[in-house]
Amino acid sequence: MSSKPAVLVARAVFPEVVERLSAHFEVDANVADTPLSRPQLIERLQGKAGAFVTGSERFDAEVLAACPQLRVVCNMAVGYNNLDIAACTAAGVLCTNTPDVLTETTADFGFALMMAAARRMAESEHFLRRGEWKTWRYDMFTGSDVHGATLGILGMGRIGQAIARRGALGFGMKVVYHNRSRLPAEQEAPLGARWVDKATLLAEADHLMLVLPYSPAAHHSIGAAELAQMKPTATLTNIARGGIVDDAALAAALREQRIAAAALDVFEGEPSVHADLLTVPNIVLTPHIASATVATRRAMAGLAADNLIAALTGGTPPTPINPEVLAAR
Ligand code: DGY
Repeated sequence: MSSKPAVLVARAVFPEVVERLSAHFEVDANVADTPLSRPQLIERLQGKAGAFVTGSERFDAEVLAACPQLRVVCNMAVGYNNLDIAACTAAGVLCTNTPDVLTETTADFGFALMMAAARRMAESEHFLRRGEWKTWRYDMFTGSDVHGATLGILGMGRIGQAIARRGALGFGMKVVYHNRSRLPAEQEAPLGARWVDKATLLAEADHLMLVLPYSPAAHHSIGAAELAQMKPTATLTNIARGGIVDDAALAAALREQRIAAAALDVFEGEPSVHADLLTVPNIVLTPHIASATVATRRAMAGLAADNLIAALTGGTPPTPINPEVLAAR
């Protein structure tokens, strides 16, 4: 019988990461990479001290109660709305995530989506692929400028600030943002960023970017009422989490051209996508890939592994979410 602690790697990940974990642990790796149902997750966690997981696995009081040997859950994601942190803390289970390593990559993608929506890239590509391009026209797929426009950011954490830098320093955009806490003046000044209330953000943004973490309080932060406050020429980009936007209300607003265009990387109930979003033309849709570059996914997996190894071998996990669990041990 091995003296190594047992861990679950809940989804497929770089083989070298599994190999590295195997030097420390008895690893049960879900090499088939089929997302585990809740009962399957509970079954695979039996006898496991740690779990290397992604946003697809949910941990709440019920799962924790069924897995009493679990001591640490390491999310390979910066967002952790799949983890009930209060329940994990109460159960003495440490949770970790992967901040920082994906900030610039995710900001690049958010900016790309915003530009694609503003300049109607997906819509015009579909038109071309359908063989409908017969001639040049002065108003063919005219969109709106990104340079010099007003960039509105809802949620001004690390990724929000990285997007603001791109907009302000690279594209000469005016930056307005809304966040629970205002940035210190020395962080606002180089970006020319201005804190505004949510209503002002909605009214002033030419391009609105959502980068706030999901919480029940953030559910449908952008619904019909908020969309109605936006400019008819505005675009909306969501790289935060599904559920922050009311997808049905967004589809209706796009169809009725109450806003000009949208770009979504995240969806309510993903990987399902609301049927209405699939039929509106003025939208760019991507399958939750904002952090998906090879280098960044390697960095995320590496950091999640660092956390798991440290947590179960007496080290200090680099990026804990509920460090009070460590302090209490
Ligand atoms: C994150 O890191 O939160 C990304 O959305 C990937 O899940």
